[in-house]
Amino acid sequence: MKPSVRTSVLMLYVLLICVEISSQNISPRKLEQIKAEVAGYKDIAKSIINHAVYGSAQNRSYERLALFVDTIGNRISGSDNLQNAIKYMYKALQDDKLQNVSVEAVKIPHWERGKESAMMVQPRRKNLAILGLGGSVGTPAEGITAEVIVVSSFDELHRRAEEAKGKIVVYNQPFVSYGETVQYRSRGASEAAKVGAVASLIRSIASFSINSPHTGWQYYENGVQKIPTACITVEDAELMARLASRGVKIVVNLYMGAVQHPDADSFNTVAEIVGSKYPEQVVIVSGHLDSWDVGQGAMDDGGGAFISWEALSLIKDLGLRPKRTIRLVLWTGEEQGGVGASQYYDMHKKDISNMDLVMEADSGTFMPLGMQFSGRPQARAIMSDIMQLMEPINITKLYDNADGTDISFWMEAGVPGASLLDDISKYFWFHHSEGDTMTVQNPIWMNLCAAIWTVVAYVVADLEEMLPR
Ligand SMILES: *[C@@H]1O[C@H](CO)[C@@H](O)[C@H](O)[C@H]1NC(C)=O
Ligand SMILES: *[C@@H]1O[C@H](CO)[C@@H](O)[C@H](O)[C@H]1NC(C)=O
Ligand SMILES: *[C@@H]1O[C@H](CO)[C@@H](O)[C@H](O)[C@H]1NC(C)=O
Ligand SMILES: [Zn+2]
Repeated sequence: MKPSVRTSVLMLYVLLICVEISSQNISPRKLEQIKAEVAGYKDIAKSIINHAVYGSAQNRSYERLALFVDTIGNRISGSDNLQNAIKYMYKALQDDKLQNVSVEAVKIPHWERGKESAMMVQPRRKNLAILGLGGSVGTPAEGITAEVIVVSSFDELHRRAEEAKGKIVVYNQPFVSYGETVQYRSRGASEAAKVGAVASLIRSIASFSINSPHTGWQYYENGVQKIPTACITVEDAELMARLASRGVKIVVNLYMGAVQHPDADSFNTVAEIVGSKYPEQVVIVSGHLDSWDVGQGAMDDGGGAFISWEALSLIKDLGLRPKRTIRLVLWTGEEQGGVGASQYYDMHKKDISNMDLVMEADSGTFMPLGMQFSGRPQARAIMSDIMQLMEPINITKLYDNADGTDISFWMEAGVPGASLLDDISKYFWFHHSEGDTMTVQNPIWMNLCAAIWTVVAYVVADLEEMLPR
């Protein structure tokens, strides 16, 4: 049927009114109604918590994750391992009898580190443990041998710009916080290249170290010479800083076989519990399936991906069916800047008015402390009440500022977002290093994370109204 222009205009008008209404505050009376509705979920919340923490689902997300990472290994974008991981999950989600299991094709960067090594050759020979940074160019076959200049900040680099010419810049910046310190990893190479350096070595962005380098993505600035860049250990950065402070000349040979291949085919992996009343309206629970090419990617972000899967399993086990659809998305290409999630947003933003809440767990699944939330005050008031349902496990806090690369696209467009806050005091010990293995995961903490994650997703998806935005 082809509606007349007149009806189309009318429909558009109605649509505009709806959009207008949905972006306004709800009445105080309505808000009180919703809060009362939330309080009515006490028993359901308790049954989810009991099942996840004490019942037959105890340790399931941990056991599933262990089997997955031990079988597949780490999963960098463009790798066969990541393709295997996606196939594995596609089958696992089907075996779990979830609905609408599917994959959505996306193109992702394909960078391969190849062989790499670094040797301090003056004042004495010492092997330096390195990990090339994602996206870095390689060195010539004979490597780069050059004198080192050690700086502790970009300011110092700029003050000593003349001295840096033709040298390898070693950044020995202190770890302040990930958010603040990571800029040395993300743009250290281009800053060094601008003052004529031939390579850059960056002290790993880590809060603690036992001589392990930590990798991560880095960005070359347009129009600036691309120089090879790798991270070194905290210990070696401090060693070279001490040597330099004594006026000792340091020379390093750096070899990196890194290559950037053409973009690779990959997939976001999706499964659902389809809503009973408003199936077109969606709560997303998510984590990313890709990882770095070191360790097992158990913490970043195996844990987040697997408690998100667990949320659907728990809801299904208990025979619950929310009014709205709960959609699991296992993102691909997160570590290169949320590449899979960005393409997902572009493909699905036409349905943004039906996106109720986007959730991502990508900061570890250690002992949970609460939930982080971004949204308007009225939505926050509702979320805060939902967190009170976690009273049986005494993890009831709601914090500000949901965090997650993959959900940021939706949040920036005004969709409420939530992320799991856990005890990250050791997260940056292991992050993006060989230390990110199953050994750092704990089944009891994962049970608690899964319980909170599931209660929030379920209750939001089952309320009569979408969260106000
Ligand atoms: C879950 O893990 C904990 C800690 O390792 C253990 O004590 C408990 O027996 C496990 N439960 C099951 C059902 O395997
Ligand atoms: C999702 O599953 C439901 C129920 O099985 C089905 O009705 C619906 O068509 C499916 N949606 C898609 C996009 O496949
Ligand atoms: C509940 O957790 C808070 C910290 O959020 C703590 O101060 C309090 O002692 C805990 N209460 C119980 C009963 O464990
Ligand atoms: Zn991550």
